[in-house]
Amino acid sequence: MTYILGIESSCDDTSAAVIQNTRVLSNIIANQKVHSIYGGVVPELASRAHQQNIIPVVDVALKEAKITKKQLSAVAFTRGPGLLGSLLVGTSFAKSLSMALHVPIIEVDHLKAHILAHFIDDGSNSDNPSFPFLCLTVSGGHTQIVKVKSPSDMEIIGATIDDAAGEAFDKAAKIMGLSYPGGPEIDKLANKGNPDVFNFPKPRIPELNYSFSGLKTSILYFLRDKLKEDDHFIKNNIYDLSASIQSTIIEILMDKLTKATIQTGISQIAIAGGVSANSGLRDAIVKAGIENGWKTFIPPFKFTTDNAAMIAIAGYFKYLNNDFASQDLTPYARSKF
Ligand code: KG4
Ligand code: ZN
Repeated sequence: MTYILGIESSCDDTSAAVIQNTRVLSNIIANQKVHSIYGGVVPELASRAHQQNIIPVVDVALKEAKITKKQLSAVAFTRGPGLLGSLLVGTSFAKSLSMALHVPIIEVDHLKAHILAHFIDDGSNSDNPSFPFLCLTVSGGHTQIVKVKSPSDMEIIGATIDDAAGEAFDKAAKIMGLSYPGGPEIDKLANKGNPDVFNFPKPRIPELNYSFSGLKTSILYFLRDKLKEDDHFIKNNIYDLSASIQSTIIEILMDKLTKATIQTGISQIAIAGGVSANSGLRDAIVKAGIENGWKTFIPPFKFTTDNAAMIAIAGYFKYLNNDFASQDLTPYARSKF
């Protein structure tokens, strides 16, 4: 039996998880509430909170998994991309623990881990994608279409040239005065609104790439003009605004994803990352799957946003290949793949 401890500390969630081969035994996440009053993640506060959370979170993850740290086969941790100060906390902790236990450490790329979350066995008996498949990775920091040839061989075939899809949700929400993170707020409000009431322009970007910064600007100017006529415009139209913004983001995402399936001839399609929790996007993928004959893979909610179970499963695949890290590595802020 292989037991991997996964550690995730790339942004504002401190998480630890234990897996037994591919089966998740525990997945503990400490959210950092401190950032919400600032309307976004404050890096210095995030790294301090990670320092406070990491030991208790690992302790609870081991207890819930009903194993002792001596049973661990390896410690996997997020090396990047993310906030350097936050990553340093997880990286240093993983290094020290592995040294103390005389077990290997495994470095994991956060974005690959979001994709490999599809292989976590949570007892639900759902199908895994088979290789190659396409994954639309949509998070707060990244938007990518990835051709996944194996757990260790992935190719980015499209990516955003500016903001990520999650940022588009969060910035639109901020403009409308909603709380941070705005993605889940817009999702909830959109369910009560009509997506056809307001029209926002879609970018024309070549190839399989994305752009979301223009959408943010057009929402800003549109609302500025409307507020001049009516102080309560946002409040009175919040449902339809949310639904219209959400459907624009989803249409932008789906257009390029559909193009990617045609270009590559691959019809197994997965989504991953925090924005894959969005109910409108989940419905759109299922609908497009039925219309186009794709086999679609939608992650369980608990594995969409940042969590350590995805780090542990990515670590497990590397463990099988004896792909271990050295004690002298340092985190990276930007993705290397
Ligand atoms: O993957 P993630 O937890 O962290 C990063 O790696 O960035 O993604 C966080 C992002 C945030 O932008 C958040 O607003 C968005 O995922 N998000 C959502 C939903 N849940 C989380 N966006 C839209 N609808 C949701 N239900
Ligand atoms: Zn993430």
